[in-house]
Amino acid sequence: MAYPKPAPDSLLIEQSPQGLAGWCAARRRAGETIGLVPTMGALHEGHLSLVAALGAIVDRVVVSIFVNPTQFGPNEDFSRYPRSEAEDLAKLKTMGVDVAYMPTVDVMYPAGFTSFVSVTGQLTEVLEAEIRPGHFDGVATVVAKLLIQTMPDVAAFGEKDYQQLQVIRRMVTDLNLPIEILPVKTARDAYGLALSSRNQYLSDAERAVARQINIILARTGSRLRAGAAGPDACALAKAELIQAGFDSVDYVAFADPDTLAPLTHFEGKGRVLTAVRIGKTRLIDNMPVAVSAATLG
Ligand code: PAJ
Repeated sequence: MAYPKPAPDSLLIEQSPQGLAGWCAARRRAGETIGLVPTMGALHEGHLSLVAALGAIVDRVVVSIFVNPTQFGPNEDFSRYPRSEAEDLAKLKTMGVDVAYMPTVDVMYPAGFTSFVSVTGQLTEVLEAEIRPGHFDGVATVVAKLLIQTMPDVAAFGEKDYQQLQVIRRMVTDLNLPIEILPVKTARDAYGLALSSRNQYLSDAERAVARQINIILARTGSRLRAGAAGPDACALAKAELIQAGFDSVDYVAFADPDTLAPLTHFEGKGRVLTAVRIGKTRLIDNMPVAVSAATLG
C-alpha cells in the first residue's frame, strides 16, 4: 500500500506498550506486515520521507514520537527540544500513518530503571560518541525498547544520523532481532541543507551559514576522489567551515562507511561526516564518497 494513502482520519494514538503490542499482534494475525519509524517528533519532510519509504513496502506504518531523555547529555537541549504534537499528528494523518505511538517518560523508564543496551567498540568511541558521551547507550536502549514493543518487519532510519544508523544495525545484528533496517537518504532543503528539527533554532543569518555545510562536504568528497589524503582534506574542510561562519567544528572525518574507522585515502568507498556549532545550535551532516558519487546522500 503506497503512502500517502486515503482514509486520513484513521490515525490511532497509542500511549501504552500493551496497547501497541495488542494492535501489532492483531495486524500480524491478519497477515499484514508492519513498519516502524522511531522519531522524537517536531516532524519535517525528512521524517515523512522515512514514512513514505516504509509505506511503499509494508501494509501498516507505526510512527513513534518520544523525546528520549537518556540520549541527551546534561548540557544538551532536552528541555528545549522542539515539541509540536498537534502539527505532528496532523502530518501523520495526511500521510495515512496507522499508529502514532507516544509513550510517556514514566512508562518508558519505570521507577528504578537500570537496564541499558550498550553497543561497544570503535563504532561508539568515535565522532558523535567522543562529543556526546553516553548518547548511543541512550539511543540503543530506546530503539531496542521501541523495536521490541512493536516487533515490526522493517524499521526505517535516516542516513542523516549516519553513525546512529550503523549503531542500530550493529545492535539488531548482535541481538538477533528479526527486523530489517531500511536506510533512507538524507532529505535536504533547496540549498542542500539537511533537514533537522534543530534547524528551527537557526536565525536567518545562521541558516545561510548552515547551507554551506553540504557544499563544503561535497567539495571535500571531490578532493578525496581526486586523491587528497583523508587528514588533509578534513583539515581543509574544517578551515572552510570556520571561514563560512561557524563558531566551531567538533569534527570533520573521512571514514569507512561500515565501521567509521578513519581512512587515509579514498579507495572506492568512504563517508565524510561533520558536526558544527553556530550560536546555540549544533548541526550534523554527512555524505558518501563513492566512485560515481555526484549525488548527495
Ligand atoms: P529524530 O532526530 O527525530 O529522527 C528520527 C529519524 O528521522 C532518524 O532515523 C533520523 O535519521 C531521521 N531523519 C532526521 N532528519 C532526516 C533527514 N533530513 N533526512 C532523512 N532522515 C532524517 O534520530 C532520532 O530522532 C532519535 O535518535 C531516535 C532514533 C528516534 C531515538 O530516540
